[in-house]
Amino acid sequence: MNTPSPFAELSWSDDGQPFSTHFDDVYFSRESGLAETRHVFLQHNDLPRRWGELAPGAHFCIGETGFGTGLNFLCAWQLWEQLAPADAHLHFVSCEKYPLSHTDLQRALTLWPELQPWASQLLAQYRDPAPGWQHFNLANGRVTLTLLIGDVLDTLPQLDARIDAWFLDGFAPARNPDMWQPALYAQLARLSAAGTTLATFTSVGEVRRGLQAAGFLMHKVKGYGRKREMLSGQFDSAGSSDWSAPWYQRPAEHHQARSALVIGAGLAGCATALSLARRGWQVTLIERHAQAATEASGNTQGILYCKLSPHQTPLSRYVQASYAYALRLLHELLPQGESTWQACGVLQLCTDDKERQRQQALAEQGYPADFLQAVDTEQASQLAGVRVDRPGLFFPGAGWVNPPSLCQALLQHDNIRLLTHSEALQLERRSGLWHALDGQQQSLASAAAAVICCANDSHRFSQTAELPLKPIRGQVTQLAATADSQQLRTVLCAEGYISPARQGEHHVGASFRFDRLDNQPSEEENQSNLQLLDRLSAQLADRLQTSQQDAASLPARAALRCTSPDYLPLIGPVADVERFREDYAVLAKDASKQPDTPTRWYPGLYINTAHGSRGMVSCPLSGELLAAWLNDEPLPLPRDLVQAVHPNRFLVRQLIRGQ
Ligand SMILES: Cc1cc2nc3c(=O)[nH]c(=O)nc-3n(C[C@H](O)[C@H](O)[C@H](O)COP(=O)(O)OP(=O)(O)OC[C@H]3O[C@@H](n4cnc5c(N)ncnc54)[C@H](O)[C@@H]3O)c2cc1C
Ligand SMILES: C[S@@+](CC[C@H](N)C(=O)[O-])C[C@H]1O[C@@H](n2cnc3c(N)ncnc32)[C@H](O)[C@@H]1O
Repeated sequence: MNTPSPFAELSWSDDGQPFSTHFDDVYFSRESGLAETRHVFLQHNDLPRRWGELAPGAHFCIGETGFGTGLNFLCAWQLWEQLAPADAHLHFVSCEKYPLSHTDLQRALTLWPELQPWASQLLAQYRDPAPGWQHFNLANGRVTLTLLIGDVLDTLPQLDARIDAWFLDGFAPARNPDMWQPALYAQLARLSAAGTTLATFTSVGEVRRGLQAAGFLMHKVKGYGRKREMLSGQFDSAGSSDWSAPWYQRPAEHHQARSALVIGAGLAGCATALSLARRGWQVTLIERHAQAATEASGNTQGILYCKLSPHQTPLSRYVQASYAYALRLLHELLPQGESTWQACGVLQLCTDDKERQRQQALAEQGYPADFLQAVDTEQASQLAGVRVDRPGLFFPGAGWVNPPSLCQALLQHDNIRLLTHSEALQLERRSGLWHALDGQQQSLASAAAAVICCANDSHRFSQTAELPLKPIRGQVTQLAATADSQQLRTVLCAEGYISPARQGEHHVGASFRFDRLDNQPSEEENQSNLQLLDRLSAQLADRLQTSQQDAASLPARAALRCTSPDYLPLIGPVADVERFREDYAVLAKDASKQPDTPTRWYPGLYINTAHGSRGMVSCPLSGELLAAWLNDEPLPLPRDLVQAVHPNRFLVRQLIRGQ
């Protein structure tokens, strides 16, 4: 059984107001939470004036401590829609240690009928949050919400962002002294710049002095309702002098002309194109085939496979954050159906004792039941609709996706132009633009920025030639469904996988081969896929009459996965390798050195590749991460994960090892 999740513990007053039993405090003023939010956070950050004066296409970022019921967020979003230019983008980052369950959030938000148009959009995407950061795209991309689940003192140090206005909320300092600490004020300062404002409902002297010591100019102003005073202020300091690795810092560039080439129209390229298009970028997506999703992303059924480690490894945390966002995006963009995708659940069956221990440890980590559940053999068989002989973990929200349908859905945006039958063989920078050149050195298209999403071919360009990419061939076998096999209700996974029938066919996968790089299906891999199926469920194999199938004539599809040496993707800006080795040569002699030479990047050049065997889960958030890099927005992942997927990680490791 799952242990209880760390959700907010609430009691409710007779008039429906939530009260935190954990902190023994109210979430908002009993008089009017709405009016209090507008007074304290919106007015005293001067948002009505600032947003009324924003330039078209501008980007604004709010940081908050304590998301709670989301009241502050919804009020800000409402005001944003009233005042900000239609193409401006709001990013709201909020920290929350004890998120509300979906049921409690829904209940709390019925208090504000006026906010229903916004609350209903949030609730449609909000699930009982699992640990990790949760990223939401709302209002068709006009508003982004990133929820940093965890203690603010742990999560804010992991944030890479520049905040324009702070909402310093989080229960009264006397009720929550652990949060109101100099370490918090130091983080607020680290993430602020000249002009950043801050407002808080409290006027406690220690808070004011703490904020002043961190570099904020603070004033006492009239509080809301019966509260005599509150604090508002502005950041007024030169910023921190702490060393941070230059090779992971943001390229200092500002893209006036928001145009981008995205090369490669698989899932990574299509997700990148949409994330940029939604932020007002004009995207030219260049694809060598006649249509999108023809190589790895051309499979018929891909599994939303969320393989986690109880040890919270970077890979596991990356997968978890990406999985939650992938599900949100699928629900938003792609109606479920017989041919598109189905959230039919994924059952990960135990394969051996080690796997059993992994699953047990995960089940004990307090995940919400709508995220994962441990099931015994009987429950697993009930869920699957066919007999299985092992216990497992069930992911009720997952399922299978037809990647070409997802790519099509991702491409439905007026700012995306798809250029097919176009192979980009070189990238050349001329007069501030990247030109993608074909085999005849002709420019296929040009733009201020370029993102390489060419899977294994991503290192064909001179600028990325040294990236360590590794192809792994895989084959999926197609089996005609029978009346009995249609009883399969969920995806079954162990060493292999099979999904419920799509248009009368099941897909069984997948082989892993390092010795072949062609895409001709092989009899041998069909045979091994049938064996994988037999181990998943002998009953299902029987229903599909696999013993009578001729492996040589079974229809199949082979393609190449693209992986990196540590099996994490490569997402981020591209540095000039030769200069990198020159600039940081000292690391080869002494890895503890802290050079401060800024990294020499190729201006506006980025990469998004190596999604391995988990592109369905991994690609959607990778698009958001790339767009956040390019658009100078808060990065949607903690800094250690941003570094774990950063293209420079291999260069640094090579230098340190003296290679
Ligand atoms: C057999 C198999 C089974 C899989 N099963 C699953 C699964 O169940 N679940 C899961 O999550 N993942 C699965 N994957 C992995 C998943 O398919 C990939 O991670 C994902 O599709 C990668 O997307 P991509 O956009 O990076 O690559 P691709 O889909 O390969 O796209 C790259 C695109 O770039 C184009 N391109 C390359 N070079 C150029 C150039 N120079 N100019 C123009 N265009 C160019 C290519 O034509 C291609 O369209 C599987 C993969 C395979 C092979
Ligand atoms: C007063 S409520 C916030 C109200 C909220 N802004 C709203 O609009 O509903 C304070 C919130 O801060 C959260 N919180 C308290 N201490 C925290 C900490 N150390 N880290 C992160 N969140 C914290 C609480 O769980 C609670 O949800």
